[in-house]
Amino acid sequence: MTPIDLTRRRFARVCAAGSLAAGAAFADPQTQPEVKKAMESVTAAIAHAESDPNRPIYHFHPPANWNNDPNGTIFYKGWHHLFYQLNPYGATWGHMHWGHARSRDLVNWEHLPIALGPSVEKGEEHVFSGGAISGPDGRPRVFYTSIGKRDPEQWMAAPADDDLMVWEKYARNPVVSLKNHGSLKVDEWRDPFLFREAGRTYMVCGGNLNSKRGGGGAVQLYESGGPNLIEWRHRGVVFEYRDRRVWNIECPNLFKLGSKWVLLISPENPCEYFVGSLDLAHGKFTPDTHGVLDPGRSYASNISYDDRGRTLLWLWGRTDSDPAKGWQCCMTMPRVLSIDEDGFLRQNPAPEFETLRGDVRSMNAAPLDPKPLPLGDAFAGDSLEIEAVFTLEQAAAAGIRVRISGAGKAAGEVVYTPGNGLFSVGSASAPIGRQKQVRMRVFLDKGVVEAFANEGAAAIFAPLQAGPADLGVEVFARGGKARLDSLRAWPMKPARMSLERFHV
Ligand code: FRU
Repeated sequence: MTPIDLTRRRFARVCAAGSLAAGAAFADPQTQPEVKKAMESVTAAIAHAESDPNRPIYHFHPPANWNNDPNGTIFYKGWHHLFYQLNPYGATWGHMHWGHARSRDLVNWEHLPIALGPSVEKGEEHVFSGGAISGPDGRPRVFYTSIGKRDPEQWMAAPADDDLMVWEKYARNPVVSLKNHGSLKVDEWRDPFLFREAGRTYMVCGGNLNSKRGGGGAVQLYESGGPNLIEWRHRGVVFEYRDRRVWNIECPNLFKLGSKWVLLISPENPCEYFVGSLDLAHGKFTPDTHGVLDPGRSYASNISYDDRGRTLLWLWGRTDSDPAKGWQCCMTMPRVLSIDEDGFLRQNPAPEFETLRGDVRSMNAAPLDPKPLPLGDAFAGDSLEIEAVFTLEQAAAAGIRVRISGAGKAAGEVVYTPGNGLFSVGSASAPIGRQKQVRMRVFLDKGVVEAFANEGAAAIFAPLQAGPADLGVEVFARGGKARLDSLRAWPMKPARMSLERFHV
């Protein structure tokens, strides 16, 4: 008996026990042969993907092949569930399925069987991005954009078990179609995200209102007609981005954070955020503040809430790596969101990552002059957390370089330039204000780096291209005097990403 048979048996048992939402009609596991084929393809690629020394070891990634957006992120019965856009058939974009993993602590993961594949018998070609929310029986429901040789549609699926291993698509999908918009024409319509407020359930989807001429990127709002989440009423355009530079909006997330509402968008450029207020009576979001979420190579956000009252941000991390290595991309570290005293968003890495720290290495305060200060062998590595505070006296810039080769070439540079108030990793920059002192937290993970400034005022994810022997670390200042006030570093252990439950 193969594990897929096991899954089928379990599915039959669970259905017989009548645990699916009463009254809702869910189809038989039609997609199972597709999923089995996809699982076999991923499994065959694992050994090769794992042999690449530049693959991240504590940034979440699929067993092998390509991933993009985090999908349906939800905390359920003690587990953080992460679904994600997966191409089981290669290390480039294509054949979109929903991969699945779960974690108790946001750091260590269990890979689970692929949750959703296209229902080819229904003309479905891709299972695009989407979100999750609890259903009438307390179990999550997931919503995603179904892509085929027809208009996009929003589909729903329900789990047959509390481990969320077996998913059934609602038999009468779609639950929302373009017809819901009446005469309003929405292009590139996709990526449902769900939220609940005052006992009502809402969905938002992305798209644009002007065939990508620019300035018409828009977020559509829908309200559920009842607890089963199968009938949705279009409430209108909740937000329109009237900026010619913005062609389209993907993956909108609209959610409450403290007393404010936050809108995250993926405008086919680095994600942006707005903090403001939401008038649900009129279906309008009004921003007060605005910023770039992460100017680096991350994209396509999603949100979850945990049992500690935290709001967690999930992002796709592009690695821009060679698909011949059998893998490409990862997720950023999950980030805890908050709003600062000026009304701007803060993002800090989940503190659970401290469990991966090895023994601490510390440096005393030191003056920095034009010559970089190498940190020496004790600090060298390709999997590190570095926390440093700099005071820039007259210096134009100060920062940390990582993955330095024997010839002195650094693959990654994290730098603060007080003149323009920018915190940067390579060419990606985020404003953190103009001040004399800066605190940096840099997470180096083989071929990627994720850096945070001033308690989460900026967060940047970036890929690196380095050779296996490029392990040096240095601190530096440019254009005048600066001081390194403190520096601590930890070698980071690999996170567990177990394949025990990833059965074909
Ligand atoms: C964002 C995105 C989504 C879409 C998905 C397809 O990266 O383009 O809009 O649903 O990826 O993989």
